[in-house]
Amino acid sequence: MAFKLPDLPYAYAALEPHVDATTMNIHHTKHHNAYVTNVNAALDKFPELKGLGLVDLNKAVGTAAVPADVATAVRNNGGGHWNHSFFWTVMGAPTDSNGPSGELKAAIEGAFGSLDEMKAKFNAAAAGRFGSGWAWLGVKPDGSLGITSTPNQDNPLMAVADDKMIPVLGLDVWEHAYYLKYQNRRPEYIAAWWNVVNWEAASENFAAAKAGKVFGA
Ligand SMILES: [Fe+2]
Repeated sequence: MAFKLPDLPYAYAALEPHVDATTMNIHHTKHHNAYVTNVNAALDKFPELKGLGLVDLNKAVGTAAVPADVATAVRNNGGGHWNHSFFWTVMGAPTDSNGPSGELKAAIEGAFGSLDEMKAKFNAAAAGRFGSGWAWLGVKPDGSLGITSTPNQDNPLMAVADDKMIPVLGLDVWEHAYYLKYQNRRPEYIAAWWNVVNWEAASENFAAAKAGKVFGA
């Protein structure tokens, strides 16, 4: 079954003024759409891989389950498809963004000391990622929260990832995610992004991750 571009759960302008509508439109209809098209094209050559869902396909990146012929295409485009599908859902209108609550709030305070300290560590991971990539907050195999970053369209689900975790939040720090509004000012984009974080989605992701379940599985 071919992968499909998901609809955004809000309008392109919903994240204004922090993430502008034009960026969101191009990011979704051009960039994300291209990852979907390209991963489908790669899997056309290996129909046996089509039975894997997107999550299992991502977990298989770096293993013998993905043939060498399409390893790079699956890594970049299967990763890009999962990463962006996840990314859209952890954002929302700034008026709906409050902060972490319940078990996620307690886990953040337990792991990092405070929400501000977690944000500082996440921001450093996002700003320090050289070139294109992502920053992640996620549940590590030992059940605790951690922060990591990945290059290109890699993610912490992949067998190739240095730090394995199930993502709770993810931030796209490719220039295509912010350049129209912020140009080279990546730290300004990262700071503004916290205004559009959907903490309800993050809490759901955290509860699922604690049970070993990945978004989209
Ligand atoms: Fe992106």
